[in-house]
Amino acid sequence: MQGHNPSRRLFLRYFVGGTVSTIALSYWFPKTSRSQEPDLETLCSLFPLNSRCETYLPGVQALDQDEVPIGVSALLTQAQPGDRVLALGLERESYLVIDAGPEIATYGISSVCTHLGCTVDWDAERDRFVCPCHGSEYDDQGRVTEGPARRLLELVTVVVKQDQARLVQQAPAIDPRELSGSTRSSAPQ
Ligand code: FES
Repeated sequence: MQGHNPSRRLFLRYFVGGTVSTIALSYWFPKTSRSQEPDLETLCSLFPLNSRCETYLPGVQALDQDEVPIGVSALLTQAQPGDRVLALGLERESYLVIDAGPEIATYGISSVCTHLGCTVDWDAERDRFVCPCHGSEYDDQGRVTEGPARRLLELVTVVVKQDQARLVQQAPAIDPRELSGSTRSSAPQ
């Protein structure tokens, strides 16, 4: 019968632990042999305060409806907490979220309706995103309140740096809707 060998067990533990860590790191920070840029893009989108990200600007600059770069300080002198500000820059428009402060949230809400892809409008009076195509409505966090859409509006990552709001076409690591309640929609099923 084969006994337990402590050094073999230790070796296996380090081997398995090392392999899992390597896979996790290569998932978050894929390396290319030609450039460190993809590493920084991911790192600085997820962790903008990291010391390697002091001068790096991830994503693209948010633009207003006239395609003029949005200056964060200028925006925040006019914006009110609860506002949603349309921003161009990514392939489709997104909405910047103005939080208490006021400050710009680290996530934005995609304007792409999850029913068939029309662009939703922000109805500030009703605190709702409204789709002009078939009437879907979403609350101010992008949860469905009226169908036919069934899925939440997607999120993008927003990094505020050097008086710019940078839009990154990927959801933040943590969906703030999971922290502040539920990701469930209240539309009748
Ligand atoms: S595309 Fe928005 S409700 Fe159909």
